[in-house]
Parts: sequence; structure tokens; C-alpha cells
Amino acid sequence: MKNLVVLSGAGMSAESGISTFRGGGGLWDKYPVEQVATPEGYAKDPELVINFYNERRKQLLEVVPNGGHLGIADLEKDFNVTVITQNIDNLHERAGSKHVIHLHGELTKVCSSRNPNDYRYIKELSPEEYQVRLGDKAGDGSQLRPFIVWFGESVPMIETAIEYVESADIFVIIGTSMNVYPAAGLLNYAPQDTEIYLIDPNPVDIHSYRKVSVIQKGASEGVEELSALLNTD
Ligand code: APR
Repeated sequence: MKNLVVLSGAGMSAESGISTFRGGGGLWDKYPVEQVATPEGYAKDPELVINFYNERRKQLLEVVPNGGHLGIADLEKDFNVTVITQNIDNLHERAGSKHVIHLHGELTKVCSSRNPNDYRYIKELSPEEYQVRLGDKAGDGSQLRPFIVWFGESVPMIETAIEYVESADIFVIIGTSMNVYPAAGLLNYAPQDTEIYLIDPNPVDIHSYRKVSVIQKGASEGVEELSALLNTD
């Protein structure tokens, strides 16, 4: 089976009702990035940041995977699929994708404020625990913090992601504006003969001269078209 690697971003979940970050009405218009997605913002007002992610978790209980997520999961019948996502939601997993790498963390997890990547203190929350409070402690006694990679923090999963991209026969970019690194740089690790597809309803600058087959559609329709092009079903 061929290796198919997906790089997904916020647009992947847009049709499920989760806002994208950039562009009109994006999340970063409503909430300043510096406040809710940087270590400095967290140090300044941890409660505000904890509550912001509590809200995101609440929303997770109200949304379901869309046709795009389901279509990607379906590709596992015909390909070795690895999903590399910038999204912190769990919609790929809930659609049935078995191998999902989260570059920017996971909403359903919390960690230590002292060392967010100390695996001993990374904990999966059950839905009953989705509302974290100031004062809730990680195993090392520090405040429980959302397991999210904020701007300015390292992206530990990038090395693993690169390894999969390096052995991709097919690389599919879906719903990302390709503005945020190192995620946006992953394309550069795809071998020269890798087929590259891009699904997005809007034009995206991929910062590369690679030949890309553009499917200018939303995630659901776009993945359907991709499956047809790849001759599945
Ligand atoms: N289907 C597919 N793509 C869509 C859809 C849709 N229905 N609707 C919008 N899009 C596209 C937009 O055209 C845009 O190219 O999704 C992309 C969303 O871009 P961003 O909002 O910039 O999101 P993303 O690229 O995932 O952001 C990267 O930045 O804010 C940080 O950490 C955050 O992981 C995030 C990272």
C-alpha cells in the first residue's frame, strides 16, 4: 500500500462548525493571540487562558466530524494513512483515523505548567473533567495547563511528522493557510516524486515551486474529489 500523508489545518474542521483562526470572523479576531496562545499570556492571566480552552472543550462536545474527516478515515482502506494535524480537536480520531499526529497539542489533554512535555504529567481528560479550574494540579504539583503548543514554544512532534512526510507517496494539504511554521515547512520534506494535492476553497500560497494539484473546494467536497482522483471505491 502507498503511504498517504495528510497535513490538515483549521479549515478541515470548519464544516463541523469550528472557526478557523485567520480571515474574516476567525478566532484570532475575537481573542488576541498574545493573550490566549502564548506562554506570556498564560503567565499574565492563567484563569482567562484556562477558561478559553474550557470553552473550546465545551464546543468539542457539540460538534461532530464532517465528510472531510470521514473521507480521510475511509482512505485507510486503500492507503497507509498518516494524518498530521495542526488542529487541537479530536475530529480526525472520532471519524476513525487510526494514526493522527497532533503538532499543536490536544484539547482533550492537560499537562504540567512547569514542563508541558513531561509525559508523566500529560493526562487525557474525560468529558466530565473538561472544565479545568485555577487550582487544579498536575502530578508535579504545578497548575494543570492545557496541552497546547503555544506560539514561541517548541513543537516536539515535528520530528516524527518529518519522518512520515519523507516516506510519503502522496501528500495532501487540507484547510491550512500555511502561515505557521514549522508545520508549513513540512512540504519541503516530501520526496521529489511525491504527488501533492491541496484542498482549500481559497487560494493558498504554499511557499514552494512544487507541482501541486489544487482542488479548490471545501473539505467534504474536496476529499470526495480526491478519493475519486486517487481511484478509490
Ligand atoms: N474546507 C477546507 N478549508 C477551509 C474551509 C473549508 N470548508 N474553510 C476555510 N478553509 C481554509 C481557509 O481558506 C484557510 O486557508 O482553511 C484555512 C485556515 O487557515 P488558518 O485559519 O490560518 O488555520 P491554520 O492554517 O490551521 O492555522 C495554523 O495557527 O493559529 C495557529 O496554532 C494555530 O494550528 C493553528 C495554526
